[in-house]
Amino acid sequence: MRHLLSITDLSVEEINELLALGGDILDHPEKYAHRLEGKKLATLFFEPSTRTRLSFEAAMYELGGHVIGFAGANSSSAAKGESVRDTIRTVACYADIIAMRHPLEGAPVAAAQVATVPIVNAGDGGHHHPTQTLADLMTLQREKGRVSYLKMGLCGDLKFGRTVHSLIGALSRYPGVEFILISPEELKVPAPITRALEDAGIPYREATSLEKEIGNLDALYMTRVQRERFFNEEDYVRLKDTYILDEAKMNLAKKDMIVMHPLPRVNEIATEVDDDPRACYFKQVNYGKIMRKALMLKLLEEKA
Ligand code: NCD
Repeated sequence: MRHLLSITDLSVEEINELLALGGDILDHPEKYAHRLEGKKLATLFFEPSTRTRLSFEAAMYELGGHVIGFAGANSSSAAKGESVRDTIRTVACYADIIAMRHPLEGAPVAAAQVATVPIVNAGDGGHHHPTQTLADLMTLQREKGRVSYLKMGLCGDLKFGRTVHSLIGALSRYPGVEFILISPEELKVPAPITRALEDAGIPYREATSLEKEIGNLDALYMTRVQRERFFNEEDYVRLKDTYILDEAKMNLAKKDMIVMHPLPRVNEIATEVDDDPRACYFKQVNYGKIMRKALMLKLLEEKA
């Protein structure tokens, strides 16, 4: 049985197949409207979410299936002290596939050890978020026409931002990608990730100024400072407004640079940028739903 715990669980070939399937779903949604009839998805969200949970649920409905689940640890037996493993053993009796989000890094790995149905990691702590990466890759594919040969800027909280970690894990397996990692000193990409880039000979540079870097980028991936992962509020307040992408900065960017953001945005992108044709973050939301459809088709059809 296949799970998706980290984006590296998928080979490049499989990611490319999912992107191709996603393209077909986008063009011919009706072809897929009954493909998962009779199947049930459980969404177990021990941490807040708008997009990811609703996107999984909408994806399952659009494939003809059903959805059960909970949003918030307080509305599940976790509040009574039940372990993740016991919750998973239970829910596997009710559902054909489980998407889970948990504040603890590694929780989906523990879940997969006891699961009798596929587990999809919908975000674990500051660790991984592989289905957001599928959304991000589809955005690059559709809006830039490629997921390779890109000068990719990642900006903001690169330390706690799990979407950043998973995206680097995917893009570093495609040729010609160069990473420009823009963050304050305190929020740099964790050392194991930069070491892996070095070991693989993948070009990357760490920088602190968005103004200085923006003019060279093909895509800019903005992120929110992850308040809930900070140890103290003072540090959060000091760092939260380090980068604000506005019209003035967009004027320094290439005419065909795209702006991405996994959302939710706080104030790191001024709303005036939303009308810029280079702003792709709301399109990215739709691509996320499409790629979750592709992923569930793959995992459930492989299992059958
Ligand atoms: C991200 C997450 O949960 O990691 N949101 C999402 O799933 N699109 C990003 C974030 O919360 O900042």
